[in-house]
Amino acid sequence: MGKKLINQPIAFPKTLPEGYQYLADEPTYDSDIHLALEYPTESLSLRDLGYSDSEVSECPTDYGISGIARLLSEAGVAALMDVVQQLRQYTVTGGVRIQYMLRGGVYRSRFLRDLCLCPKVSKFLSDIFGIAVAPHSVPLHLGHCNYAPDDLDRAVDKWHSDTLGLDYVLMVSDPREQVGGEFQYFFGTKAEMEEIKSSGQSIPEDRIVSPYFPGPGYMVVMQGGMVVHRGAKLKEVYDRITMVNGYVTLDTVSHDPSRFSDIKAVDPHDVLFPEWARHKAWLARGRLDRLIDELPFTRDRNYIISELKNAIHEVEVAIQDLEDEAPGFSTNYGDL
Ligand SMILES: [Fe+2]
Repeated sequence: MGKKLINQPIAFPKTLPEGYQYLADEPTYDSDIHLALEYPTESLSLRDLGYSDSEVSECPTDYGISGIARLLSEAGVAALMDVVQQLRQYTVTGGVRIQYMLRGGVYRSRFLRDLCLCPKVSKFLSDIFGIAVAPHSVPLHLGHCNYAPDDLDRAVDKWHSDTLGLDYVLMVSDPREQVGGEFQYFFGTKAEMEEIKSSGQSIPEDRIVSPYFPGPGYMVVMQGGMVVHRGAKLKEVYDRITMVNGYVTLDTVSHDPSRFSDIKAVDPHDVLFPEWARHKAWLARGRLDRLIDELPFTRDRNYIISELKNAIHEVEVAIQDLEDEAPGFSTNYGDL
């Protein structure tokens, strides 16, 4: 059973978590008005960044990071800016990494929800990644926004890889008006970054890439769980805002790159725990559907047992995650 069966995207929750409500006055998302999709003209693969064949084989795609792509029209940027300014009141501290971030915004803004779930955007990203993807099955990973810190000595976000596999980073504010605060990525692997940090060295300048964004509404698309990146320190006060939307692959054989511990440290548990359970159950359902469709006639009971175990594996992982009462912790590589 090596064949890839494509899973159906998970349905967005029918009810809102307690204490969340949608904004009373916000623009209505219209993909014809708000999108201005432009494909990136270049990209780097995971192999280009230095990952080995065996590391790449653990990932759903060899895609590393795109050059600049465009998501939003001018009207789309204006509408999203209106929404994220209204949502600023709900920002929280993202543990040690980020001073002000917004999580669960898709439970507070219909515009943000509909943009993040938009099938046209999912199709666009599937074309870019070269595999079928859907909006992330953990809704807390949809429409994550980072706002500038008050303290200019603090990076917008420390060097890290994302707690999920695939995403984009969108400039909501105008990057041309910003001094410092660049989105940067490391031209290398997570293990190389680990080694640089553990030996107390600084990252060689020529391995830090700062893409030039021609305006708000532009983005990079990446396998953020594998590409080490950060938001650098601002050099002048500026209302820098970025939005990150997460995606999952729809094939039913890839392993789940989503990390639980990091988000357990920052997200409200009454929202995260059920989302995590649904996410893992959805992954298992995809594998169970594949098993039901494709399990051949055989007397090899060990084979059948291993296929059944494999199909329900993610549910067992979720149970272990939820049984673990230890506090979560952030995995990151620091500021410099
Ligand atoms: Fe990130």
